[in-house]
Amino acid sequence: MLARRVNRRTAFCLFFAIPTFFIFSWNSFCGLHFAPFSQRCEGCFNSEGKRENEPANETGEAELEKTENKGRTFELKTTLITNTTCSQHYFLLILVSSAPSNFQRRRDIRRTWGVDTALAPRWKTVFLVAQSRAKETTESLSREHSSYRDLLQGDYIDHYWNQTLKIQMGFEWAVRYCNFTFLLKMDDDTFVHTKRLISVLSTFSSEQLYLGMLWEKPLVKRGKEKWTISYEEYNKTLYPDFCPGFGFVLTFDVVNTFVDLFDDVPLFRFDDVYVGMLAERAGVNGTFHPGFRQYPSPPQVPCSVDETVFVWHDITGDCLLKLFEDTF
Ligand SMILES: *[C@@H]1O[C@H](CO)[C@@H](O)[C@H](O)[C@H]1NC(C)=O
Ligand SMILES: *[C@@H]1O[C@H](CO)[C@@H](O)[C@H](O)[C@H]1NC(C)=O
Ligand SMILES: *[C@@H]1O[C@H](CO)[C@@H](O)[C@H](O)[C@H]1NC(C)=O
Ligand SMILES: *[C@@H]1O[C@H](CO)[C@@H](O)[C@H](O)[C@H]1NC(C)=O
Ligand SMILES: *[C@@H]1O[C@H](CO)[C@@H](O)[C@H](O)[C@H]1NC(C)=O
Ligand SMILES: *[C@@H]1O[C@H](CO)[C@@H](O)[C@H](O)[C@H]1NC(C)=O
Repeated sequence: MLARRVNRRTAFCLFFAIPTFFIFSWNSFCGLHFAPFSQRCEGCFNSEGKRENEPANETGEAELEKTENKGRTFELKTTLITNTTCSQHYFLLILVSSAPSNFQRRRDIRRTWGVDTALAPRWKTVFLVAQSRAKETTESLSREHSSYRDLLQGDYIDHYWNQTLKIQMGFEWAVRYCNFTFLLKMDDDTFVHTKRLISVLSTFSSEQLYLGMLWEKPLVKRGKEKWTISYEEYNKTLYPDFCPGFGFVLTFDVVNTFVDLFDDVPLFRFDDVYVGMLAERAGVNGTFHPGFRQYPSPPQVPCSVDETVFVWHDITGDCLLKLFEDTF
């Protein structure tokens, strides 16, 4: 009897404790821990953890590709394989991390805030996707790229623990093949009020900026849950300050410096923490702005306009379309 009552109480507590934990970790531990859920891909790694397209003659990770661009030869540092270029300077370049199979999300972004229809576009959106193990997905991606020319691909199998490779290839593409003032890196489950963001960015310096929902002195989480890390992987108690990965802004000079630092700052599993590490190494201080926000997903929060927010995490599908209708 007592046991049953205790069980019932335990169940009751868990019922409240679990959502509370998630909300807490959401707010305190930021986007990286939720954002990658949106990146979940179907196939990813085979049972040996090998890449599907592992080259037959393995010459090691340091193998570099040579690419022609703007009349000079340079070596690529990352897994980037796309060599499309930007046709003009953009005030805002938007890199969206997206899992190969998230066709619908990319389509929704293209038909809403992602494309600037002005004669002289101020922003441009491109999607960071890696490789899929599924043949149909690969073929669809190829068709998608032929139609829109807005996919940046890396030469590795997409997986949410490989998001850092995605950030690296995106940053490298941005500084080598594009010209921009500000870069917004975000996830494909985020709504951006592009025009509002642009007017806010106009008030900031176009150099040395790292802007987002800055999380200061973030405590490292240990344990066995998903978003924890072992002491062997990271042995400090705090991460460097970082902006959660659902959306943050960098200026061109900062992205350029980060690409230079890829050789010095070893890969870290959480992509946004990695950006914090790069910023720390580069001596760039993050800046907090309340316009970057994440909420528990609808239906907990109604899908309605908030004038103060311009980068809003966890908005997809009908809610995205509605926010776009209501605000643009
Ligand atoms: C592998 O690559 C190296 C260096 O490019 C070359 O010398 C070697 O012959 C290659 N081995 C095979 C089995 O293709
Ligand atoms: C871009 O890559 C394609 C193949 O992926 C290649 O045919 C083309 O020559 C490359 N263009 C430049 C400018 O490097
Ligand atoms: C980038 O764009 C700016 C502004 O339009 C321009 O002044 C600059 O020369 C461009 N840089 C390159 C490398 O094209
Ligand atoms: C990608 O992530 C998987 C799983 O964490 C890992 O085994 C693999 O080594 C990573 N691939 C690369 C190219 O880093
Ligand atoms: C923590 O990790 C760094 C590098 O990963 C290493 O140099 C250092 O010795 C480690 N410190 C402790 C106390 O284990
Ligand atoms: C960054 O912040 C630190 C500590 O608040 C300060 O000492 C330093 O001057 C700042 N750096 C820049 C480039 O603003």
